[in-house]
Amino acid sequence: MTAIEVTDLQKSYGGTRAVDGVSFTVAAGETFGILGHNGAGKTTTVECLIGLRRADSGTISVLGLDPVRSRRALARRIGAQLQESELPARMRVAEAMRLFSAFYDEPDDWRALLDRWSLAPIRNKAFADLSGGQKQRLQLALALVGRPGLVVLDELTTGLDPVARRETWALLGDLKAAGTTVVLVSHFMDEAEELCDRVAVFGHGRIVALGTPRELIAETGAASLEDAYLALAGETR
Ligand SMILES: Nc1ncnc2c1ncn2[C@@H]1O[C@H](COP(=O)(O)OP(=O)(O)OP(=O)(O)O)[C@@H](O)[C@H]1O
Ligand SMILES: [Mg+2]
Repeated sequence: MTAIEVTDLQKSYGGTRAVDGVSFTVAAGETFGILGHNGAGKTTTVECLIGLRRADSGTISVLGLDPVRSRRALARRIGAQLQESELPARMRVAEAMRLFSAFYDEPDDWRALLDRWSLAPIRNKAFADLSGGQKQRLQLALALVGRPGLVVLDELTTGLDPVARRETWALLGDLKAAGTTVVLVSHFMDEAEELCDRVAVFGHGRIVALGTPRELIAETGAASLEDAYLALAGETR
């Protein structure tokens, strides 16, 4: 079954072509990585996937829905952790969790999630007073509180300490075992190699390579996904 189908997606901001004809599919239960240089169009693509941005052209289907037309329905079925997304400055950690969990039909126990992500001791802190990694952990917990069948994670582990990063990897393993579809934007090639079934390498708004980490490694004659990525990135610059 296909969870996501993107065909010839295009999106410009004024004169900047952020996404320039991108097509890919993600199977249900797959962990799909989106890699690529700064400004390659990764965040723009995932924002279009969840209906936060309207594509200029092309078609997108997520869980059978058009993300713009069915944005509200889709929001109840997916979880998203977006790069640098903000909450109201004075909103407290526990308050945010309670609020987000109320939005879903069958939410997880948000208090247990606070414990799991070491957020319980700072449950009464305001969002503006959290450290970068604490904000990131809260965003992750918020993305998962609805027990979504599909999660979109944009630079999930950026800013996390090494222990939190490994915990996050384990969590992604659990999500996978539960059949959750994951779209993971990352700059960490070790992470992508470990976690992703397939990866798309973006370059200047296009997909320059797509396959399993093993395929990309074999195609480039590299020893690791990091080396394969560097070889591919060298070609697109
Ligand atoms: N709101 C915006 N207004 C104007 N230009 C934008 C906007 N958002 C992104 N861009 C431009 O679109 C291009 C793609 O940006 P995008 O954020 O999708 O890249 P990215 O691959 O996520 O990069 P990064 O790895 O740095 O997060 C860049 O050239 C960026 O400057
Ligand atoms: Mg980005």
